[in-house]
Amino acid sequence: MTPRDIEIVEVGPRDGLQNEARIIPADDKIALIDLLSGAGFTRIEVASFVSPRWVPQMADGAAVLAGIRRAPGVGYSALTPNMKGYLAARAAQADAVAVFGSASEGFSRANLNASVAEALERFAPVCAAARADGVTVRGYVSCVTDCPFDGPVAPEAVAHVAAALRAMGCAEISLGDTLGRATPQAVARMLKAVLEVVPAPALAGHFHDTGGRALANIDVALDHGVRVFDAAVGGLGGCPYAPGAAGNVATEAVAAHLAARGLHTGLDAEVLARAARLARSLRGG
Ligand code: HMG
Ligand code: MG
Repeated sequence: MTPRDIEIVEVGPRDGLQNEARIIPADDKIALIDLLSGAGFTRIEVASFVSPRWVPQMADGAAVLAGIRRAPGVGYSALTPNMKGYLAARAAQADAVAVFGSASEGFSRANLNASVAEALERFAPVCAAARADGVTVRGYVSCVTDCPFDGPVAPEAVAHVAAALRAMGCAEISLGDTLGRATPQAVARMLKAVLEVVPAPALAGHFHDTGGRALANIDVALDHGVRVFDAAVGGLGGCPYAPGAAGNVATEAVAAHLAARGLHTGLDAEVLARAARLARSLRGG
């Protein structure tokens, strides 16, 4: 395997596709994931076990996980907001799961129908069950600088949720600029607060690119010691509960940006280009 300085976690099949209005057939999602499996990723987020009424596009998670060819060395993960989702993800043989909280109350209500504290309470049994089952849990914190409902978010609020998720047993905390509005200055302030409670090797950066600053924000996170970044091939996506948010930063753009900085991701640019074309054709409908 190619030596790697930075890990890119591919979230396109989940974060990229979840917002599409047209229901994409499971077979098309499976084809995208199978193609991505040959690109050199060690982690691909492929499904969400959430309420199908809240996110209809992700209702076929079990079929997707059943249909993919599991490449050796690749972990296929799924979002699980509560025990119901966790049990469904386990039954579908997801390799890892993720709980997803918010640093802001407004987004937490809109996305999870729960306050920040209530959401954390629901995640605790998921983390405990995963620990007992030997399953790795990732914890997301959304709205790390800006919330579509509450406006600017205090760095301390992000640190509070990140610390709570870490204390529950989340192996990694992914810091989400859900809206894609973060500035490098705001990211630096936020990271300073988070790094007081979670060490850099346990953090990931998750930048949407609405404002076109995702690569600059990745550079700031790199300067703070973050070495894992989430991205979606083809720059797909948005969040159904974050009005106006654009897609995740494109995987191929992050890989090229890092390569230009002399940092290796171990990803195959040619396979990424093919996957980006396929991803865009799915979005095109
Ligand atoms: P609720 O309505 O409060 O849930 O929603 P409830 O517990 O009252 O249950 C209501 C119904 O939902 C029941 O069904 C449950 O069985 C069902 P009924 O009896 O009425 O037929 N239900 C479920 N069904 C399937 N799977 C489940 C599940 N749980 C309950 N796991 C809930 C609460 C959390 C379920 C809902 O708010 C939800 O599904 N939210 C998910 C929203 C979501 O997926 N958002 C996108 C992902 S987050 C994101 O994109 C941000 C991220 O990328 C980072 C970043 O960019 O910041 C990660
Ligand atoms: Mg996201």
